[in-house]
Amino acid sequence: MILLGIETSCDETSCAIIKNNIVLSNIVKTQEIHRQFGGVVPDLASKDHEKKILVIVYECIKDANIELTDIDGIAVTYGSGLLGSLIVGLNFAKGLAVGLNIPLIGISHLEGHLASGFIDNTPNFPCMSLIVSGGHTQIWYLESIDKFDVISNTVDDAAGEAFDKGARILGLGYPGGPEIEKLAKSGDPFKYKFPLPNVKNNKFNFSFSGLKTALLYKKNKLDNSEKKYSINNLAASYQHAIIIALLTKLELALSHYNVDNIIIVGGVSANLYFREYADNLKEKYNLNIIFPGLKYCTDNAAMIAMAGYLKLSQKKTYSNLSIEPNPNIIYK
Ligand code: KG4
Ligand code: ZN
Repeated sequence: MILLGIETSCDETSCAIIKNNIVLSNIVKTQEIHRQFGGVVPDLASKDHEKKILVIVYECIKDANIELTDIDGIAVTYGSGLLGSLIVGLNFAKGLAVGLNIPLIGISHLEGHLASGFIDNTPNFPCMSLIVSGGHTQIWYLESIDKFDVISNTVDDAAGEAFDKGARILGLGYPGGPEIEKLAKSGDPFKYKFPLPNVKNNKFNFSFSGLKTALLYKKNKLDNSEKKYSINNLAASYQHAIIIALLTKLELALSHYNVDNIIIVGGVSANLYFREYADNLKEKYNLNIIFPGLKYCTDNAAMIAMAGYLKLSQKKTYSNLSIEPNPNIIYK
């Protein structure tokens, strides 16, 4: 089965071809146009997807060494994301599915991130997934690919957002995660202490907005003092605080749910310091911790195609040409 994946939920135009569970090609074009604004401008994003999508689909088919007519189905992100951006990908996919007379499978962006853990890996069920992206920070307990409970959510910012907002405070570029990680490499993660976020009501939940405020205060204080300080130490300590906050909750969830496979996905899972720290849990809990390959952590269409493949192999999905874009799919 050959599937085309399409992902245009935010500022990446991405298309991929997979053959069963093997990725044949995966092209991700990140829109540069937003850099000057320090964040994604929705109208510019949809316009840019519109301009590029056809060319990228053809490039992707060429890379995979197949013909357009070899495609057996299309998996496309229908939400969450920017409405205009979703409409471009979804309508393109619908048109192509009608033209080729093949099934169209709508995939939610988070299902896509989850599926990235199944590219080149075969996690066992039941398992747990920590999804850490720019918009979400959740822990799912999965009995199967389509049967899961959300056991943890963020009450304010997502972990990726904490990196992005922290980077802005430190005067770094967007996206903030890779920028902070770069500086942190030559910084001392134990130089400054940040409070471990504490969430009332649901002990499994995450909170990151306090960390960002603590960073702002710390930076202002350091800026106003006579002494010189290293921004690298500040970045490293802040990164450390985010990672510890994530792993503390993951450990708490682990002590309540009996799993031996954990899938950690989403943009923040590309962070190497995070990967190293998470590895410490492996021995302690006798776990198999699965991180996707680095190119499948941040937004990409291979994960969307993979989610389509997983759905089709469950035979629990069907073609749905009337699927509508949903900017805000809520899992709780
Ligand atoms: O999954 P993703 O590409 O898009 C969303 O679905 O949001 O995640 C993007 C987020 C951004 O907040 C970005 O700063 C963060 O992932 N990110 C990282 C790293 N690479 C991307 N955070 C920490 N370390 C990284 N290396
Ligand atoms: Zn994403």
